[in-house]
Amino acid sequence: MQKVVYTQYGPPEVMQIMDAPVPEPENGEILIRNMAAAVNPVDYKVRNGSLKFIAPGKFPRTPGGDMAGIVEKAGSGTSRIKAGDKVFAMLSMAGGGYAEYLCIKEDLASLIPSGFSFEEAAAVPLAGLTSLQALRENAGIQKGMQVLINGGSGGVGIYAIQIARYFETEVTAVCSSKNVEFVKAFGAHHVIDYTKEDFTRSSKQFDIVFDAVAMSSLGKCRKILRKGGSYVTTVPSPATFFQQATAFLRSRKASFIMCKPGHKDLDFLAKMMAEGKLRTHIDKSYPIDQAAEAHKYIETGRVKGKLVIKMEH
Ligand SMILES: NC(=O)c1ccc[n+]([C@@H]2O[C@H](COP(=O)([O-])OP(=O)(O)OC[C@H]3O[C@@H](n4cnc5c(N)ncnc54)[C@H](OP(=O)(O)O)[C@@H]3O)[C@@H](O)[C@H]2O)c1
Repeated sequence: MQKVVYTQYGPPEVMQIMDAPVPEPENGEILIRNMAAAVNPVDYKVRNGSLKFIAPGKFPRTPGGDMAGIVEKAGSGTSRIKAGDKVFAMLSMAGGGYAEYLCIKEDLASLIPSGFSFEEAAAVPLAGLTSLQALRENAGIQKGMQVLINGGSGGVGIYAIQIARYFETEVTAVCSSKNVEFVKAFGAHHVIDYTKEDFTRSSKQFDIVFDAVAMSSLGKCRKILRKGGSYVTTVPSPATFFQQATAFLRSRKASFIMCKPGHKDLDFLAKMMAEGKLRTHIDKSYPIDQAAEAHKYIETGRVKGKLVIKMEH
């Protein structure tokens, strides 16, 4: 089987295709014939070494925090998932998704609802779980709240808009001019075009500001946050750490999301998908031998929705 590996940190070209034996599932694991993997910004941040202190690991490494495929074999100690099931999962920080076969803990996997391609399913876990956990756990989203999503057109943003809608909130998305209709199609009630207007100077106030692209701060968003409101970001700064630790002293909270894998929250997203409430937009799909091209694109920060790698087998 083929997989992408790199043996040192560096530019996209450090990634190479390698032939490897199909792994055997250990206790509690399932072996998956992988059909698609999402490409997330964390993949290139780990590859170029900028996350080496948060996500240390041995070489060779295989990138990829998401996968969708068919269970080939369920190992001993598994009970929920069986051979032949179509599953998707978020993997750990160690990655491993850019591979034709992989073994994962059964606890990470959920069943893919019918009617979705493997590419659509692979796109969801990491970005969708980030949005769900940021809005529900960090910010305590409730029906009727005013929610602002900065970066509404990105991988995290498209799911954040739909999840905020699912919780019956009023959603304002921030994006550039070219993506205004795109974020409206995902359910944004209102749109702020960041090329024309600074959202932190809006006259409106919000209960939640979810900064999916981590371009702002609690300080900048204070005026647009209601008392008791939450600013949640996807990339922490020293200021966010301090504000999170001292949240009990503050009238407005700041926190960062550290997305956790697991089938329980993924089942929630699978239910939304089955109900037609969580859709995906695949900006571009790549064969496994073009992983470097996929990384070059995601590093531009201009991806609309999601990028995926489709396994050819
Ligand atoms: N902590 C965690 O657990 C966690 C989990 C997932 C992601 N993340 C992080 O979250 C960030 C976003 O991830 P992602 O997957 O959504 O990234 P992405 O898909 O690569 O984001 C690209 C999108 O961001 C938009 N964008 C760029 N600059 C913007 C700006 N100034 N204002 C508003 N929108 C802007 C782009 O639209 P335009 O081209 O129109 O500007 C594009 O659609 C990354 O840094 C990622 O590493 C963290």
